[in-house]
Amino acid sequence: MADEPDRRGFLKVATGMLGGGLGLVIAAPALRMCVAPTGAETVTTPHDPIDLGLVEQLKVGAPWHRVAIIAPVVKDAWTTARDIVLGGAWLRRTDAKVEALSAVCPHLGCAVGFDETAKSFLCPCHNSTWSESGGLVANTGPAQRDLDPLPIEVHDGRLRLTWVRYKLDTATREPA
Ligand code: FES
Repeated sequence: MADEPDRRGFLKVATGMLGGGLGLVIAAPALRMCVAPTGAETVTTPHDPIDLGLVEQLKVGAPWHRVAIIAPVVKDAWTTARDIVLGGAWLRRTDAKVEALSAVCPHLGCAVGFDETAKSFLCPCHNSTWSESGGLVANTGPAQRDLDPLPIEVHDGRLRLTWVRYKLDTATREPA
């Protein structure tokens, strides 16, 4: 009879531990669902070079040519999307060199066009203008810097461009 309280105590503790364990098993996934995706990178802009096709499509000495920059895969914390348009770039090939400029206006992000007649870049939103090489033409609009160059390389005869989105409306160029 003396060990009756001990057995009761043991059963109490064992039941409590079992209940607590079960509670943890149920609560952990629910808690994880509530706090997700805290701490995770929520949107991934591809940092790897994007294939833009054969370099031969750019004729040496031809005017700037606009291309859409399409990421094969973009992931966020919940989904994976394919063939997402990130923006546009202007490309040209001079002798042995290929150049790329972002078509995103460094003022507020409108799409920059190229005026063949005036041989200059123009943003239709607030009339900022850039020279044929992408240099800002002073006093034409509110943009504060030149068009943003984008890293581009030729690898095995194919153009590979690295997409970079820069902070808008700043005089200096910093990745966003
Ligand atoms: S968005 Fe291009 S000048 Fe304002």
